Amino acid sequence: MIPTKIFRMTEEEPDREAIRLAGEVIQRGGLAAFPTETVYGLGGNALDPEASRKIYAAKGRPSDNPLIVHIADRKDLDRLVREIPPAAEKLIRCCWPGPLTIILEKSGIVPYETTGGLDTVAVRFPDNRIAQALIRESGGYVAAPSANLSGRPSPTTAAHVEEDLGGRIEIILDGGPVKIGLESTIVDFTEGVPVILRPGYLGQEKLQEILGEVNMDPGLLSETETQVRPRAPGMRYRHYAPRGDLKIVEGEADAAAGEIRRRVRKHLEAGESVGIICSEETRDSYPEGDVRCIGSFADEEAIARHLYGILRAFDDKETQYIYSESFFTPHMGQAIMNRLIKAAGHQVITVQQKGDVNG
Ligand code: TXA
Ligand code: MG
Repeated sequence: MIPTKIFRMTEEEPDREAIRLAGEVIQRGGLAAFPTETVYGLGGNALDPEASRKIYAAKGRPSDNPLIVHIADRKDLDRLVREIPPAAEKLIRCCWPGPLTIILEKSGIVPYETTGGLDTVAVRFPDNRIAQALIRESGGYVAAPSANLSGRPSPTTAAHVEEDLGGRIEIILDGGPVKIGLESTIVDFTEGVPVILRPGYLGQEKLQEILGEVNMDPGLLSETETQVRPRAPGMRYRHYAPRGDLKIVEGEADAAAGEIRRRVRKHLEAGESVGIICSEETRDSYPEGDVRCIGSFADEEAIARHLYGILRAFDDKETQYIYSESFFTPHMGQAIMNRLIKAAGHQVITVQQKGDVNG
């Protein structure tokens, strides 16, 4: 156990001294967690193989799952990669700083420990002033996975980070709740047509508007994780998983709510604890169970922001069974459902009409 120091601040009023201290920790090979606009990151020096090893150990993460290198200046990308194809350049100009990670061929300065043995590197320029200041104080290149224990939902507050990594890392910079709440969109530029390896705030449609042709990794679309392997190693693991048994109920709203109500009743009769994840619009359809409203269908950003916190809250209460409505919202629906379906280990119940159930 090492003592973990926590410093509270806001983007508007950053604690310069604490950020400098965290930068020093990273410069000498230690770890510090920090806020980004997507989720909290666990930072170490990306150019130091030993620091990358420490990150894997702190998270309990398999070391073949590569880390994202965070920068705070577009020019710093040049040293990390062999070349920047025009499409990547175009996307960077539109979306950096922001919730976008790009994959390119790595240069010699990036250790294989950081890339999980791959010849490619993931790079991101986050849109958060605390993160940017820390990256600059750390020497410019910070490897940072989400700051959760491997297998747990990504942290959207500093309290989540402390829960998972308190006693394992030296510093947490607490910048309050994050803005987006889902991890960055990952786009691979190493094979001709750009491919989305992980959907995020920037969806396929938006990327197509900017780039023209953009494919979705077929590994993300397959029903079970065994058919086609996702290309991002991290998307292959069961991830974001709550401890309880989570199932998604899909279909017309009234029918789905009816199915969830019926199942909740059965669990309660058996003396089991059961939670429900629903929208503001359907909140009143559930008279019993631990009902968590994730947000309005009209506010998909709220749905994205609240997802991981709700999954963690059910863990805290050791809820045994959880049912979630599905949230195919217009822009972030792809990302929200990707995370939710992974959290459910692909358990999706499809309700055709009232009373007619599949799966
Ligand atoms: O929003 C984010 O991206 C957050 C914040 C902290 O920036 N970071 C994050 O990192 O989500 P992490 O380590 O939890 O997820 C990184 C994902 C993993 O699925 C990993 O397999 C994939 O990126 N990845 C990293 N480098 C890769 C590479 N060279 N090729 C393919 N996938 C890669
Ligand atoms: Mg992660």
